[in-house]
Amino acid sequence: MVVSMHEVNDGVTGEGVGAAATPGAVLGPSRSVFSLRDVAVSYGTAPAVEGVSLEIGAKEITAIIGPSGCGKSTLLRCLNRMNDLILGAKVTGSVEYHGIDLYGSAVDPVEVRRRIGMVFQKPNPFPKSIYDNVAFGPRILGRKQNLDDTVEQALRRAALWDEVKDKLRQSALALSGGQQQRLCIARSLAVEPDVLLMDEPCSALDPIATARIEDLMADLKGDVAIVIVTHNMQQAARVSDRTAFLTAEVDEEAGTRVGRLVEYDRTEVLFTRPSDERTEGYITGRFG
Ligand SMILES: Nc1ncnc2c1ncn2[C@@H]1O[C@H](COP(=O)(O)OP(=O)(O)OP(=O)(O)O)[C@@H](O)[C@H]1O
Ligand SMILES: [Mg+2]
Repeated sequence: MVVSMHEVNDGVTGEGVGAAATPGAVLGPSRSVFSLRDVAVSYGTAPAVEGVSLEIGAKEITAIIGPSGCGKSTLLRCLNRMNDLILGAKVTGSVEYHGIDLYGSAVDPVEVRRRIGMVFQKPNPFPKSIYDNVAFGPRILGRKQNLDDTVEQALRRAALWDEVKDKLRQSALALSGGQQQRLCIARSLAVEPDVLLMDEPCSALDPIATARIEDLMADLKGDVAIVIVTHNMQQAARVSDRTAFLTAEVDEEAGTRVGRLVEYDRTEVLFTRPSDERTEGYITGRFG
């Protein structure tokens, strides 16, 4: 039997799962959208990330920072089962979404990816019109009623409506990079996700477009949980409530390099009073 994620009981999560030892557990079970316990990911025989346990807040923006190759994107992809699509990728440990085992055999990965949207570093609009990009998800879900309204609302929430309302039938590929990124966010929002995962969404954008995306994230907060991977520490400090710092541990003898969670805390604390010297080294630019 396939359990639809519609049956997920929003806001109520499994209790008594050893949360005391988990960074961020102070959130309490009903306020977290994801609970990760000892999550590890490997590609073939090579481990990429190990031993990650943390709670991600339902009404928060969570930033993931760390040097290149430490496993930020890999970890992010665990949150909507995108690693399932990568040949050889193996995820172990437990990832709970509102208390449901995200990797349980009864969970439908397609429904997971509807509820948990993803925006990538490089905007990836489909080679279709602006309208058809945003209408794509609702159409697949058979939600053809009031499609014009759905498209307009999604574009408004993504702060793009005013710029595109007179050219909805034009190709999305003719938009600027920043507009394309907001279009991709609108496309995700059109299927009413509960979570938005963003992997370096601003790294190809100028400061003005970046500021617009950051404003947009602040507007979405409360409705949609956001997890953002960023190399921009000012951005993490500006937009997020909590920050996770990952780093790659290198074992020269074994020739392996494995990403680990070093510190996870309220953003303000992590950036002003980090408790681990590796975090301090990274945020002050001495390492990474
Ligand atoms: N599809 C893949 N197949 C094999 N190995 C992979 C794959 N994706 C990532 N890896 C490996 O997993 C490790 C972590 O990579 P990941 O892309 O998650 O890092 P990252 O922190 O997002 O880096 P960056 O900041 O450069 O984006 C790296 O050693 C990388 O080579
Ligand atoms: Mg990455």
